[in-house]
Amino acid sequence: MLIGVGNDIVDIDRIRAVLDRQGERFIQRILRPGERAYCERRHDFAAALARHYALKEAAVKALGTGFRHGVGWRDVGLARPEPGGVFSKPRLTFEGGALVRLNAMLREGEEMVGDWSMSDEPPYATAYVVLFATAVGTETGPRAHSVAPSSP
Ligand SMILES: CC(C)(COP(=O)(O)OP(=O)(O)OC[C@H]1O[C@@H](n2cnc3c(N)ncnc32)[C@H](O)[C@@H]1OP(=O)(O)O)[C@@H](O)C(=O)NCCC(=O)NCCS
Repeated sequence: MLIGVGNDIVDIDRIRAVLDRQGERFIQRILRPGERAYCERRHDFAAALARHYALKEAAVKALGTGFRHGVGWRDVGLARPEPGGVFSKPRLTFEGGALVRLNAMLREGEEMVGDWSMSDEPPYATAYVVLFATAVGTETGPRAHSVAPSSP
């Protein structure tokens, strides 16, 4: 069953300006440590941060809360697995207030499967998120990423 969808579009230059003004405080408010490490490996940190910012806004729209009701920026985000596994796409994960909200929408015997996409074409970064409730143990993740493509 569909839980929710969300999308967002962000002006990268606006994020760059907030970064210039607030620096470390802004980064720590928005990014989880793993997301920060990833963004720091990209050639344009502000653009990578903007994509994650859009992703997080999309996720909280899919939850139906926005950043209210105890849901914070670092409660939603991407967990990047070690390279080499079948599931190589970063997973959308929920913690803290976002996990409380998510669990309130899941029924007995259900778990969440979510997927996302993000993109940028300066000056904009954009992202969307889709969340589904599925029977526990029936899905290992979005099928496009949990079932290895056959060759060639
Ligand atoms: C939902 C939220 C994330 C939208 O943020 P936004 O980027 O300001 O606004 P957007 O234009 O992208 O989206 C607005 C639309 O989202 C939808 N929306 C609003 N609240 C929503 C909710 N709780 N769940 C799902 N969708 C929601 C509505 O369709 C809204 O359009 P409307 O106002 O015409 O009805 C906002 O509630 C929020 O929590 N913003 C926090 C922003 C913030 O903290 N900024 C600080 C920057 S440093």
